Parts: sequence; structure tokens; C-alpha cells
Amino acid sequence: MAETAFPAEYFARRDESDDALFYTDPRKVVHIDDSAINTLNTRFAALLPPGGTYLDLMSSWRSHLPASLSPARVVGLGMNAEEMADNPQLDDHVVQNLNQNQALPFEDAAFDAAVCTVSVQYLTQPAAVFAEVNRVIKPGGVFVVSFSNRCFPTKAVAVWLSTTDQQHLALVTQYFEAAGNWANITAETAQAGRSGLFGGADPLYVVWARKAS
Ligand SMILES: C[S@@+](CC[C@H](N)C(=O)[O-])C[C@H]1O[C@@H](n2cnc3c(N)ncnc32)[C@H](O)[C@@H]1O
Repeated sequence: MAETAFPAEYFARRDESDDALFYTDPRKVVHIDDSAINTLNTRFAALLPPGGTYLDLMSSWRSHLPASLSPARVVGLGMNAEEMADNPQLDDHVVQNLNQNQALPFEDAAFDAAVCTVSVQYLTQPAAVFAEVNRVIKPGGVFVVSFSNRCFPTKAVAVWLSTTDQQHLALVTQYFEAAGNWANITAETAQAGRSGLFGGADPLYVVWARKAS
């Protein structure tokens, strides 16, 4: 596994300064609308094992996990400690810049499942990160990566900004393939976007896979 699977230019960013600077101030906002959050809840309820231990990668102040899952433990990893300290679904959190250090600070097979919500577009070493997620979840465990059609453009990687939503589904599929040891890689348009004067809806896309062995 390596980012050598992709051209280096894919991961250039307009703002190449340390991500810590961009995430210094907490942003306690949600990045998708209620409709997309509801759809994400539904996908999590279907894909994540109830009562499990979950890793929320690139976490903030909300994890959008449905209460029905009753997780045993949820650990967040992100850039802003204050955001994660205010997340009622996290039992613990770690601040780590995944673009500087992809090695996750967890034992092998520490989690039943992992999620990465509306953030994958900020990873400059996605295959290395996806390989680490594979290491820290149990065989058969699921990694659910979701995204919509918005981002902080100065921090998103070039390949994300130059491709369509449907191409993002293919790109994230390639991240799983490049990382290796992922099975059942599935790319879904979980909710089509809708515009409208009286209530639009953000699109929601999900790519998920299970640790092969
Ligand atoms: C758009 S927010 C999404 C937060 C949360 N997952 C959600 O669903 O609302 C992007 C998140 O990615 C995290 N992030 C961005 N760059 C990162 C990096 N280099 N390493 C680790 N986390 C990063 C930030 O901490 C931030 O919480």
C-alpha cells in the first residue's frame, strides 16, 4: 500500500500550511443538513454492529451515531480537542494530524468498526490511513466513509476539487483498494441531492468495506 498508487499531484492543496493552524479555533457546526444526517443515521444503523466499539476518524463535536446502536465505546480522532470534548457520543479522543502521521495510536483489532464522516477529502495520504484503519479494526469489521458535496476548498486535495460527486465514489473506492485487505467494497449514493425553495436536501454518498482477514 502506498500513495504511489496515485500521482503526487492528486494530493496538492491550496493551503499547504500545517493543518493545526486551520483547526485551531473550534467549529461547532454541522456540515450536512438534517435530511443527510437522517440518511447517515440510517446507514450507520444498518452497517455498524450494535453495542460495538467504534473509531470516529476525523471527528468533531458530533458523530451522528443513532442512539439505537448503544455503542460500548466510541473514540474520536481529529484536530481540535475542544470540539471532541464537546461530543456527547465520544468516550475518549485523540488529537492527531493524519497528514503528518498516519500511524494510529491503537492496538491491532482494537475496534469493531470505524467511520469517517464528511472529511476524507482532506487526507493527503489516504491509502496509508485506510491501511491503518484496517489494522485497528477486527476482521469482518466495517469502515464507513461518507461525504456530501461541500468542503473547505483550501484544505481539500486537488483530485477532490477537480472531480464530480460520482467520481468521488470511485476515488474513495480506489483508496480502499490501494490500502489492501478490504472486502465487499461498496459505493452508494445514499441520498440524491435536491434543491428547492421549500426545503432542499444535501446529497449523501457512502463508501464502505469490511476488513478481509
Ligand atoms: C468537515 S469536519 C467533519 C467533522 C465530523 N466528522 C462531522 O461529521 O461533522 C472535518 C474534520 O476533519 C478533521 N481533520 C481535518 N484534517 C485533519 C487531519 N490532517 N488529521 C486529522 N483530522 C483532520 C478535523 O478535525 C474536522 O473535525
